[in-house]
Amino acid sequence: MSYALPVFIALLGLLVASLSADPVVNRTVGESVVLPAGLSPQENPSEVDWKWGGESIAVSDMDVPSVQFRDRVHLNRRDWSLTINLLRAEDSGEYKRVARAASGQLPSHTVTLRVYEKIKLEVTTKPSNETCRATLLCTANQREHVSYRWKREDQDLPEHAGILQVSLSPGEINVIFTCIASNPVSEATASIRESCAGISSSSVGGSFCVLKSVLLSLGLVLMISAVIGVHVRECAHTKRNVRRHRAACET
Ligand SMILES: *[C@@H]1O[C@H](CO)[C@@H](O)[C@H](O)[C@H]1NC(C)=O
Ligand SMILES: *[C@@H]1O[C@H](CO)[C@@H](O)[C@H](O)[C@H]1NC(C)=O
Repeated sequence: MSYALPVFIALLGLLVASLSADPVVNRTVGESVVLPAGLSPQENPSEVDWKWGGESIAVSDMDVPSVQFRDRVHLNRRDWSLTINLLRAEDSGEYKRVARAASGQLPSHTVTLRVYEKIKLEVTTKPSNETCRATLLCTANQREHVSYRWKREDQDLPEHAGILQVSLSPGEINVIFTCIASNPVSEATASIRESCAGISSSSVGGSFCVLKSVLLSLGLVLMISAVIGVHVRECAHTKRNVRRHRAACET
C-alpha cells in the first residue's frame, strides 16, 4: 500500500516518456535521409516549417537560405517530409516540424538525426621488452560511439576495449588477432599476426629443447657405433679371405 502509489507514478512516467520519445534516425555521412513530418492526411496544413537548432531550414512558402543546408534540403509538398542529401556529421541533432492549419497551430513533431562516419580501423603492436607478449592497439577513425571486440583466430575473446594484451606460447607462429569495431551505422575489422619463436627463452621450452638434443645425440652416437662395428667386423672378415678388398677397408 505504501509503495503502490510511487510505483504507479513511476510506471506512468515511463509510459509518458516512451510515448513522447522522439524517433531516432541513424545515417552515414554522404547518405540521404527523409524525415517524416508526422502529419495525418486529414491535417491539411497551410504552412509547414522545419527547424534545426532553432533555425528554419525549410519553409513551405519560401526558400530559406541556410548556409549549412543550402542545396541539400528538399521539402516534399505531398507529405511535408524533409529530404536531406549528402549528410554531414554536423547535421546531427533535433529536427522539429511545426505546422499551421486553418483551424490553428498543429502539434509539432521532432525527429532526432544522428550522422556517423563509416568506421575505419588499424591494428598495431606496441613494442614490448617481454618476449612472447604484446600489446595490440585497435585504432578507429573516430572515438565516440565505437564498440570493440577481439578474436584470436576464430575464437571470441572477452575483451571489449581498443587495447588487447596477448601472450603466446613458444612455437606459436603467425597467430591471427582480429579487432572488430562498430558504430551504429557500420562495422569494420582489422587483423595482425603475432608469433612467439623464442623456444630457448622459456624454461619449459628450453629444457625440452635440451632433452631433445641429448636424445638425438645419443641416438646418433649409437647409430654411428653400430655402423662402425659392422664395418670393422666385415673388414676383419674380408681381410682374412680376400686380399683385393684391403685397400678399400684401410681408407
Ligand atoms: C540508432 O543508434 C542507436 C545507438 O546510438 C540505437 O540505440 C538505435 O536503436 C538506432 N536506431 C535505429 C533506428 O537503428
Ligand atoms: C625496456 O627495456 C629498457 C632497457 O632495456 C628499459 O629502459 C625500459 O623501461 C623497458 N620497458 C619496459 C616497458 O619494461
